[in-house]
Amino acid sequence: MKNTEERAAYFAGGTEHICGEGVRSLYRVKESGVYFREIVIDTGLGGETVEIDQITDVHFNYCNEHDRENEELALTLQHRKWLANAASVKGIQAAMAFAKFADQVVITGDTLDYLSEGAMELTEQYIWEPYPDTMICLGGHELVRQMQTGVSDQTSLESRLAVLEKFWRHDMFYESRIIGGKAMCIALDNSRGCYTDSQYNRLSADIEKARREHLAVLLFQHEPVDTGVPEDEAYPTLWACDGKMQNFRRAIGSPTRNDDEATRRVYRLIRENGDVIRGVFCGHWHSAYYAEIDAGEYRIPQYVLEGNPYNSQAGHVLRILVR
Ligand SMILES: [Fe+2]
Repeated sequence: MKNTEERAAYFAGGTEHICGEGVRSLYRVKESGVYFREIVIDTGLGGETVEIDQITDVHFNYCNEHDRENEELALTLQHRKWLANAASVKGIQAAMAFAKFADQVVITGDTLDYLSEGAMELTEQYIWEPYPDTMICLGGHELVRQMQTGVSDQTSLESRLAVLEKFWRHDMFYESRIIGGKAMCIALDNSRGCYTDSQYNRLSADIEKARREHLAVLLFQHEPVDTGVPEDEAYPTLWACDGKMQNFRRAIGSPTRNDDEATRRVYRLIRENGDVIRGVFCGHWHSAYYAEIDAGEYRIPQYVLEGNPYNSQAGHVLRILVR
């Protein structure tokens, strides 16, 4: 773990338990007010603990002067009021002040509220410039300029992906890193609700490597997958404050969906490798859930984390401790 003295100072005021039991617990740092959850993954390798922190759904809603000259973004500015004028800056600063002590930070999509230069500049300024190693998954919001306008995007998806690809600091469809010789963190794009053959090939190779080298594979992606567990059709939120329910059985991989073959193959690959894939970490639903994916003789923990802006931009972080 990094910066142990600074970390001790950050946590000096103590933490409090807000709600939930065990892996479903929500805590808060008393001084900074940041909310966090915690999961421990034991590799049996011993040695120093590796910490990977997840943040999700930051939703930078901002247009710079140049964006305002763009007709589509001018329309979005009129209609999209949630987190307008870069309101998410406060929340990401709070969350990163907590997460910067981790060995790796991963943000699981919807960092931009819509595709604007202003939102990309904020991503640079508050995430990638100060913390250049941060891995960021794409979410659905990055892909569009029209937000709540009732109008569909006037440019091609390819052209918008090209803008993002030029901006992204790593492969935005698949990025894999080994952290502390224990954890293999994979940022897997499923922002359009699907996977690709190229992702299948890279993920299968990584799973084989992880099995050989006894690494715990942690998958980070925007949308959750179907757990395959019948009871998960009506799954209560962990977040006592909002009382929402979700249906994991309609998520990616579900037999109720018309997923294409590549998507089904990646989904099967996840469920067939529960010995190596030790966790799936997502956002998208904005509320928190902890469910377990049925992987035969294994159960893969699947966390869906609260969106970072909630509780007045307090910051919400999931600490993943790999022992
Ligand atoms: Fe979101």
